[in-house]
Amino acid sequence: MADIIDGRAIARQLDEKTKAEVDALVAAGHPAPGLTVILVGDDGASQVYVRRKIKSCEKVGIRSNEHRLPADTSQEDLLALIDQLNRDPEVHGILCQVPLPDHIDTRLVLRSITPEKDVDGFHPVNVGRLSTGTGGIVPCTPLGVMMLIHSVIPDLTGMDAVVIGKSNIVGKPVANLLLDAEATVTVTHIYTHGLPAICRKADVIVAAAGAPELVKGDWVKEGAVIIDVGITRIMDEETGKERLVGDVAFDECQHAKAITPVPGGVGPMTIACLLANTVQAAKGLMG
Ligand code: GUN
Repeated sequence: MADIIDGRAIARQLDEKTKAEVDALVAAGHPAPGLTVILVGDDGASQVYVRRKIKSCEKVGIRSNEHRLPADTSQEDLLALIDQLNRDPEVHGILCQVPLPDHIDTRLVLRSITPEKDVDGFHPVNVGRLSTGTGGIVPCTPLGVMMLIHSVIPDLTGMDAVVIGKSNIVGKPVANLLLDAEATVTVTHIYTHGLPAICRKADVIVAAAGAPELVKGDWVKEGAVIIDVGITRIMDEETGKERLVGDVAFDECQHAKAITPVPGGVGPMTIACLLANTVQAAKGLMG
């Protein structure tokens, strides 16, 4: 049987470390790190995510603040708010939840957050730093993926890694982090030929395609480590109930060395990494 990589437990450990860092900053006379979350419009899923992020801040002692703006907020007003937050010394992290309404230029908005406070790691300066291995703030989900991999493989030197999916938020940053860890990395996407054969050679598979149960058991080498970033709600035809599935056919992959479950794998790491990034940003700004 494959070991289950328990994302909830690893996220809890990270939260404890983050809380200890917050406590140490406060004990040294600094203000507690502060995160501001901006939510434009009333997208249901975004509201759930933002509520979770704000609640998680409380657990570790991060001060949080939420700006809820109506869906018809102008781009100019949003940029003015970000400008004000960029200059506010009490704000250490700024997160603008995406998707934004169609009349707003998302790339422009994400670029307007000062890189030092960009706790999502989406600003081109942070993207550039990641791709050149020169520090910066690393996007939350990729950072969490690497922590999960390192929990079972401390040293990736020379290993073959396959990243399925080339998104800016997950696939590309994960590929960069794996390269920095000295793995040999193949990034695949929807036009890739022979994906099963590519996967069969991999010591590590990171599945981030958003395609339910894409990766079959016979694509996976004996002893490989599988990180499943996908999460899709599907109707189970046998039970008639909805369930969450990842990008990997979990039950078929018991010959792997270790695998993340969905849910309870990558998901919990994302918020824990956001909190860790907020403390890192605060430390950077406090000098
Ligand atoms: N929407 C869905 N996931 C994310 C995320 O990680 N950051 C932001 N800003 N918006 C999101």
